[in-house]
Amino acid sequence: MATVPVRKVALVVGAAAAAASLVTLGVVLAGEIAVSQGLLLVVAFGLTAAVAVLGALVVQLKRSVSAVAARHTRQLSELHQTLRGTLAVNAETARAQGRALDAAVDQIAARLEPPITATGKRLDEVGADVAAGRWDTAQTYWQIEALLDLRTMLQPRALMPPLRDWAASPDVLRWLAEYVLSRRPELIVECGSGASSLVLGYAAQKAGRGRVVALEHDAAFAEVSARRVADHGLQDVVEVRHAPLAPWAGPDERDWNWYDLDSVKDLDGIGLVFVDGPPAGTGPLARYPALPVLLPHCADEVTFVLDDTIRPDEVEVSGRWLQERPEFVRQQLRADKGMHVLTRRPGDTPA
Ligand SMILES: C[S@@+](CC[C@H](N)C(=O)[O-])C[C@H]1O[C@@H](n2cnc3c(N)ncnc32)[C@H](O)[C@@H]1O
Repeated sequence: MATVPVRKVALVVGAAAAAASLVTLGVVLAGEIAVSQGLLLVVAFGLTAAVAVLGALVVQLKRSVSAVAARHTRQLSELHQTLRGTLAVNAETARAQGRALDAAVDQIAARLEPPITATGKRLDEVGADVAAGRWDTAQTYWQIEALLDLRTMLQPRALMPPLRDWAASPDVLRWLAEYVLSRRPELIVECGSGASSLVLGYAAQKAGRGRVVALEHDAAFAEVSARRVADHGLQDVVEVRHAPLAPWAGPDERDWNWYDLDSVKDLDGIGLVFVDGPPAGTGPLARYPALPVLLPHCADEVTFVLDDTIRPDEVEVSGRWLQERPEFVRQQLRADKGMHVLTRRPGDTPA
């Protein structure tokens, strides 16, 4: 369908109406037509011309606006396309950079992992060292404290051998001295001679009651201990007995080795046993025989003190004793090397 040129038609109509209006005005002025009729026609034609011109203008305006709108729409569409393209490119670039970053991070992490693991391990070790150091400092203080108490309590008459290491620690020795002074056992037996023989001797002497038999499997150490006992003037209270290790037929069909039974057969009424030998190197559960062997020689009230219970072997020994002899009551004391005290007191109800 052909499109009507509205604007042109409107302009033609307007021009015609304007011309008609002018012609009519001329006719009116010439007096060929009544003034009122003429003016009416002039106004009518004028209005028509005005409306036609206005219509043409509106059409023109609408076309201009449409053209501007279309141009803007096109430009916007182009801009949209451009932006979409740019965004797509940027997104791909960002993804590529992300992948590169991931790879770089993985690489750095792989490179850092071994030193970080090593540093963590070292820090753990340092932490353990610090904790051990703190515990060691506390232990050192407790041992000095116990040693001062011991020296004040016993007033040794000659130089004492060094404590700790092979010898018993001050804390277990102070416990033994206090026990002897307060319970005053008639007979004290110790397995493994040394500094403890002197401490037990001084304590018995001070208590005014009791004597000490120190069993020693090693001839050389028996001699050293006997000499020390004499140096301290304790020979009337302490007897160091050389008792070589000999087979003992205990439970488990194993080859137990303990102090020669001949060395204990005369003992009777033992009230305190300090179990600090034989040395662990002489066999597994080396100290176990002490209780089953010595119990028949003990008084009704008797205490076994087992040193070195920081070692699993000694914990097992103490556990066996308690299991086999439920009449004993056990105390597990915090000590430098760990100590378990097992006591049988007639009238006590075991826990
Ligand atoms: C734990 S020690 C006994 C220590 C003793 N009760 C004391 O407090 O000194 C056990 C055995 O080790 C041996 N012994 C003692 N002193 C020793 C030393 N300085 N070096 C190696 N062995 C030693 C002795 O045969 C002793 O019976």
